Amino acid sequence: MTSPITLHRHGDVLVIVSDNPPVNALGAAVRQGLESAIKEGVADASIAAMVIRCEGRTFFAGADITEFGKPMAEPALPALVDMIEAADKPVIAAIHGTALGGGCEVALSCHYRIAVPSAKLGFPEVKLGLLPGAGGTQRAPRLAGVPLALEMTAKGDPIPAKRALDAGLIDRLAGEDSLEADALRFAKEMIGKPLPRASQKTATPDPEAVAAFTKANARRFRSFDAPAANIACVVKATEVPFEEGIQFERQEFMKLMMGVQSAAQRHIFFAERKAAKIDGIADDIALRSIKRVGVIGAGTMGGGISMNFLSAGIPVTIVEMQQEALDRGTATIRKNYEATAAKGRMTADQVAAAMGALTPTLKLDDLADCDLIIEAVYEEMGVKKDIFGKLDGIAKPGAILASNTSYLDINEIAAVTKRPGDVLGMHFFSPANVMKLLEVVRGDKTADDVLTTVMALAKKIRKVAVVAGVCHGFIGNRMLMPRQVEAMKLLMEGATPEQIDKVHVDFGMPMGPFQMSDLAGVDIGWHRDPTRIESIRDALAAEKRWGQKTKAGFYDYDDKRNPSPSPRVAEIIEDFRKKTGAKQHEVTTEEIVERTLYPMVNEGALILAEGKAQRASDIDVVWIYGYGWPVYRGGPMFWADTQGLKKIVAGLEKHGFDVAPLLREKADRGERFTS
Ligand code: 3HC
Repeated sequence: MTSPITLHRHGDVLVIVSDNPPVNALGAAVRQGLESAIKEGVADASIAAMVIRCEGRTFFAGADITEFGKPMAEPALPALVDMIEAADKPVIAAIHGTALGGGCEVALSCHYRIAVPSAKLGFPEVKLGLLPGAGGTQRAPRLAGVPLALEMTAKGDPIPAKRALDAGLIDRLAGEDSLEADALRFAKEMIGKPLPRASQKTATPDPEAVAAFTKANARRFRSFDAPAANIACVVKATEVPFEEGIQFERQEFMKLMMGVQSAAQRHIFFAERKAAKIDGIADDIALRSIKRVGVIGAGTMGGGISMNFLSAGIPVTIVEMQQEALDRGTATIRKNYEATAAKGRMTADQVAAAMGALTPTLKLDDLADCDLIIEAVYEEMGVKKDIFGKLDGIAKPGAILASNTSYLDINEIAAVTKRPGDVLGMHFFSPANVMKLLEVVRGDKTADDVLTTVMALAKKIRKVAVVAGVCHGFIGNRMLMPRQVEAMKLLMEGATPEQIDKVHVDFGMPMGPFQMSDLAGVDIGWHRDPTRIESIRDALAAEKRWGQKTKAGFYDYDDKRNPSPSPRVAEIIEDFRKKTGAKQHEVTTEEIVERTLYPMVNEGALILAEGKAQRASDIDVVWIYGYGWPVYRGGPMFWADTQGLKKIVAGLEKHGFDVAPLLREKADRGERFTS
């Protein structure tokens, strides 16, 4: 096998080039190639300096994550970076793209760093439940100080080259198109000068910065193991000699690597990327061109959906039935953009450009030039069918017609058109401009190129898209249903909304089932007859306890929407318990988990067996990005694997659930859902 590392001599400078697509991950072959290149450069008396650079789209984007959990081939990354730093001739890292994780550590072990202005440097390990394990936590604070080292390692967001330059993390900026030439010039300048080595610098303690950083990010870091470990390592760098700090970093790295959180986070990293792949469709299928998008409905969903495209520079025609609703919708979009600009995350020009690309109209006919039309009106089959019937007559040939329905049958909607192959579901999650998930619902007749075009478009608008089959509620909402049903039953048997929600929040969810009902609206799907009271939900709705919007739902709310337990709700629940004669018992945390979370796994198994999700990891992606399932638990299917499927089956049986055959089979065979 040819090595991904090649050597090029430019006079007395040796340029070491890595070409390991797609992202120059530091796999075994790259490490071995780098090791022998450095050895050769050091041993060769005609070489006075070395430059390390990468071909392709980026500098090393990190260790090769696919090697994690397996025995590591020599040389290990920590040994390699030490060897680079120990070289007795200047070694210059020439950076483009993203120098991430182990890639950033290679750069910091070089004596000098030069980067193109568009480059970024970062330590995303924390997002994989890890920390930089090749000296990054020890070299970064020595070069750039504690505050920036904390931010980079414990939060994991990359920084632009200019900021890295100002902070002393890199030494020079190169021209955007002259990296190698500028790096060569830099190398020649440095020949014969004393070699700066990051490990020999001292990191100044900064306890105030550490305290402030920890406090400011307490919420973000809640329940995650890795941020605290990153912080501890950076602090250690200010307290002990380099070698001792490295020992500490290694120890903490191994602890995290062996833990379930990192396994979960690495699972999600790959799951997210796998979700974009559609089984049975070739990667190179020709895509349809999407130059203009139409959105029907300027309400909360329609407005949010439009913003995704406007922000990506794709013009949108938005349609409403009444001028007032259209004006309100347009004003909300503007307000949202202005709020983003006020936070410094958008410029006034960008706001103007986004708003300038929006065409509001009252005429459905104006959608005739759109390449993709997304219907986002309320959930009623009759209304949707009517719209799709009309669209069939208006949309140009080849236009993709999508419904944002969250439950309804896409096949039935497609059947009212003469072009069912062009129809599919695009289920956005509220708020649609913020939530990352997009369920792309594939109808029986949806054409392959329609599906792949929408999946590619999803990436462009920075969504994580998952393909779902047609079934009631698709993947996410279908799994939500058994959870809500059981939560209501538990209320009848003696639990309180607060108790059930707390179990979910302690588990790591952003909210529990009743908090979610209050946010979404207790009146959603209500029959609207206040005299017909057949459930606790009916009773609440009849009293206008519709949730946060009426300041009362399963909880009472103050003016700032802070919830408190409601005595009135307790009365209503008690009434129902008496009326139905429901048997009361002490409900434990364990029972809540077994009866609300295990049935979700069970439903996931049914979804998989029916082929409504392509793979178990897709289900995990839906729950992480659509509902805030804690990423450190890896999604419901990964979580079930970590619990042991036998335990899940036993829990379901204990409470009288029908166990999904696929779940039982896997449990019996000692298998897992995820790899
Ligand atoms: N190892 C192995 N494979 C990787 C990888 C890595 N570090 N980073 C990316 N890939 C793979 C992806 O799985 C994907 O594979 P696929 O095409 O088969 O699905 C392919 O490279 C392209 O990745 P993306 O689709 O994500 O491409 P983008 O251009 O959107 O993003 C990126 C590029 C910003 C580099 C992004 O891939 C990324 O963030 N990668 C992870 C970076 C990272 O976490 N590095 C730290 C690793 S841990 C480490 O270094 C430990 C050390 O401290 C000891």
